[in-house]
Amino acid sequence: MTQPSTVVAQMRQLIQILAQHNHAYYVMDQPTIADSEYDQLFHQLIALEQQYPECIQADTPTNKVGDKALTKFESVTHAVPMLSLGNVFNQEELFAFARRVEERLPNQTIQYDVELKFDGLAISLWYEQGVLVRGVTRGDGETGENITQNVKTIRNLPKVLNHASGVVPELLEVRGEVLMPKAGFNKLNKHLKKIGEKEFANPRNAAAGSLRQLDSQITKTRPLAFYAYGIAQCEPENKIETIAKSLDWLTEFGFENYNHWVVNSIEEAQAKYEQLTVERPNLSVEIDGMVVKVNSFEQQRILGFVSRAPRWAVAYKFPAEIALTKVENIDWQVGRTGTLTPVARLNPVAVGGVTVSNVTLHNIGEIHRLDVRIGDTVSVYRSGDVIPKVEKVWPEFRPVDATEVELPSQCPVCESPVVMPEGEALARCSGGLYCAAQRIEAIRHFVSRKALDIEGLGDRWVESLLHLDLLKDVADIYHLHEHREKLLTIEKMGEKSVQNLIDSIENSKKTTLAAFIYALGIRGVGETTARMLANTFQTLDALRVADIDALKKTPDVGDITAEWIVDFFQAPHNLEVLDRLLAAGIHWDAPVAPSRQPLNGESWVVTGTLSTMGRDEATQLLQALGARVSGSVSSKTKCVVAGEKAGSKLDKAEKLGIAVINEAEFIQLMKDYGQLAV
Ligand code: IVH
Repeated sequence: MTQPSTVVAQMRQLIQILAQHNHAYYVMDQPTIADSEYDQLFHQLIALEQQYPECIQADTPTNKVGDKALTKFESVTHAVPMLSLGNVFNQEELFAFARRVEERLPNQTIQYDVELKFDGLAISLWYEQGVLVRGVTRGDGETGENITQNVKTIRNLPKVLNHASGVVPELLEVRGEVLMPKAGFNKLNKHLKKIGEKEFANPRNAAAGSLRQLDSQITKTRPLAFYAYGIAQCEPENKIETIAKSLDWLTEFGFENYNHWVVNSIEEAQAKYEQLTVERPNLSVEIDGMVVKVNSFEQQRILGFVSRAPRWAVAYKFPAEIALTKVENIDWQVGRTGTLTPVARLNPVAVGGVTVSNVTLHNIGEIHRLDVRIGDTVSVYRSGDVIPKVEKVWPEFRPVDATEVELPSQCPVCESPVVMPEGEALARCSGGLYCAAQRIEAIRHFVSRKALDIEGLGDRWVESLLHLDLLKDVADIYHLHEHREKLLTIEKMGEKSVQNLIDSIENSKKTTLAAFIYALGIRGVGETTARMLANTFQTLDALRVADIDALKKTPDVGDITAEWIVDFFQAPHNLEVLDRLLAAGIHWDAPVAPSRQPLNGESWVVTGTLSTMGRDEATQLLQALGARVSGSVSSKTKCVVAGEKAGSKLDKAEKLGIAVINEAEFIQLMKDYGQLAV
């Protein structure tokens, strides 16, 4: 059980953090965290206070609405305090709200007015004899700021009440929300970006920043809108009986109100909520939920208020899109291509309506950037509303025993060394031929056409064989014939197809060194590089022991690929598989030493469009003759092959006096060197 002294310490910490964020939000107009994160912290504090009422701190923010108003605007005390709403987050809580209402209104018919919960700023508008005389922010609910000059710039807000309907009230105080519709927000941000100013994080911040400008000329340029949701005072009384009718009455004076719906049961309100969840992205304004209000003013009066919120209304919030939770552990997952990805195992938490318990941390660099440790509290959000991500770590909640995470030195699946060449972001398991996590990809690649070309071993076979546990690694392919009986148990595989498979495996044993090197699936070693390695090293044994410097002498092999090759041949399990493959009888003729490499070491450039082949093919032909093919022309370039529409590279070559040949000349040259058939 938690000791009260720790509880007090936790409360003090939460109060301090909330106060900082409140100041940033209300006074500086520069929120430092998302609203939902703030709500979470706030609820943590409420939960603690409910559990330990004896520890409640005198300065807790849970008994006031917001922060004090800025002094730069004149302070105004609200004649009728601007209160807040209680929140519910799910059907159960909504129905509990309705039950509380029903208990206080026994045997009465209850209708609810369902409204959008606008995500903007609450303001109060004061009209005398139909003329707007004052606009005030909510501030702390008791006292707000006089922003009359600014509200007068809001285009859809009546400065003078429309008389068309007849008499206007002597005094009318309207409450509602100022917000920036999404389209205007996007346009404003685009503009701010263009002129090099800081963009707003979201429409709510944009509305707040725009409304609390000391210079109303700036506010005037901002696309703000006002939607009314209530009347605080009306003299003489208007005799209207329901909130829904009062909102419609306001439209007669020129106020805009967004759609609202009268429903006859709380179940209907729930249905509306579900519908809004779907429609939300298509609305022109940001909402963070809906508000359910008892429609009848008489019933509202009976229900009254509890602490700072009405009993007759509730905010039904959409699920938090950001939530705080604890990192229980950080595991490393090995992908099909051997990439090691850190995954944070979280204390399960609801984010945007789904429970999140795992979140990818991408790579070790991201772990360092976030400085996330096991035991940390993190905020999690769903990016693009789908994939959960860690937003940031909350260092203020870091326990003393939080553990730092390092890249493992061994693959968690196969224990082969983990490697990460300098300049690469991703770490990989070097046991590509052996690692169970990479098995499927390794097999697919090994049997593919340009590798060992085992046509009979398609995906369906591979899946069944993995299932029967007959393929642990690629060397097992050459032992499948020992399991003929088991192979025959596979559905739809008769004698004939099993024999075909065994034959095509047998036929694949004779291959070339280049195809075999390619089949190993070494990172960075594609078909061309494999061919060049075969040409350079002539035997597998020579390649196996080559060091980085020796490897780099091969055209096409740079620092990183050389490192991948060395790592591959250093992983003991790969060597085991390699030896088993050779023992199974895979063989090749010694490569014919290239009779000559006439372009050895020369730098060539291919530019423009060739009509008979792609640039890649031309590159390969040149490389096979020992040339290095570069993407840019310099004084070191030996020759440029210029196809159609060759542009700046051709100009540069001509300027530097470098030899240029056209496509026909190139093809002739390749024929002369035996690369193309005559
Ligand atoms: S009624 C006494 N209706 O929600 C209750 N509020 O936590 C008065 N809000 O600060 C509020 N849309 O800014 C009401 N349709 C709506 C609303 C709405 C947004 C905001 C308002 C207030 C907060 C209540």
